Amino acid sequence: MKVAILTGGGDCPGLNAVIRAVVRRGEQHGFEFVGVREGWRGLIENNHFRLNRDAVSGILHLGGTILGTSRTNPFKKEGGPERVVQTLNENHIGAIVAIGGEDTLGVAKRLFDRGVKVVGCPKTIDNDLNGTDYTFGFDTAVSIATEAIDRLHTTAEAHNRVIVCEVMGRHAGHIALHAGLAGGADVILVPERPIVLDDVAQLLRSRLARGRRFSIVVVAEGAQLQVGKDEVQTKDLDEFGHVRLGGIGAYLAREIEVRTGIESRATVLGHIQRGGSPTARDRVLGTRYGVFAADLVRDGKWGQMAALHGDAIVGISLEEATKELKLIDPGLFEVAEVFFG
Ligand code: F6P
Repeated sequence: MKVAILTGGGDCPGLNAVIRAVVRRGEQHGFEFVGVREGWRGLIENNHFRLNRDAVSGILHLGGTILGTSRTNPFKKEGGPERVVQTLNENHIGAIVAIGGEDTLGVAKRLFDRGVKVVGCPKTIDNDLNGTDYTFGFDTAVSIATEAIDRLHTTAEAHNRVIVCEVMGRHAGHIALHAGLAGGADVILVPERPIVLDDVAQLLRSRLARGRRFSIVVVAEGAQLQVGKDEVQTKDLDEFGHVRLGGIGAYLAREIEVRTGIESRATVLGHIQRGGSPTARDRVLGTRYGVFAADLVRDGKWGQMAALHGDAIVGISLEEATKELKLIDPGLFEVAEVFFG
């Protein structure tokens, strides 16, 4: 059988590890592969190339994706789903391995509902995909953010400043919570808990009163103020209807300076969190997901996604994976709160 592999949505460290694993395992099962260029766009535009063991050699440690990616949504294009099916039929492609987050896998689920043979792999630095303990890419993003917070600490301390570090994560606070905990942040602000500026200022003033003249605040890009949230969001929407987030860090730094009198700065980590080599953990997780996805294809388990439960890789339905966002564990946030202020 000929199998298409695609990577959709934002790039993420570990994508190449998954692609390599799907191909290596799949060839053991006797499959042939094509790599689809730039996510669902490549299936709409019939743009793909032969992928084999040689083509995936030497890519395990590389960031990005050798297939390219895009945020294309076939269900937002005139005749999009039909063109996807036409590409599959014309090229005798029997199945798709879709590697992506809630958007890419949401498309996979809708195509599966129309009879397309598809399996999924859970990718996103945001770690917000339901039904899996961790997505690959998250560990790398947290490691990068933690290292950045360590570096910001020294400047904050040297200058007696508050530094607000804005991290990614969209509408879930996983990156902020984990990196904030690992980096020893004095306040962590996440979308799951609306921000009360007076409370933040009070925490920072209490540090000052104890002689701690610097502070680190980690804020998730999707965190919102309890009042006045419209001030810090753009209105741009992508094909999946997501607003482009960003700006809360700068807003907070200004407000903190006004309320506390402590000089404050903001740093936005942005796409640095998605760049470069995956951590060892993400390489291993991506490899396990890829091998499992190839086995799902062998077993004809269409509409399923590889997921991590505890330390085991299991299959769950794409429906389960995409039915809601996975938000932070409140218990972990309580642990982080012990160290606030
Ligand atoms: O979903 C991954 C992610 O990096 C989010 O954390 C962030 O909000 C978004 O993608 C950024 O998207 P783009 O790369 O299109 O600006």
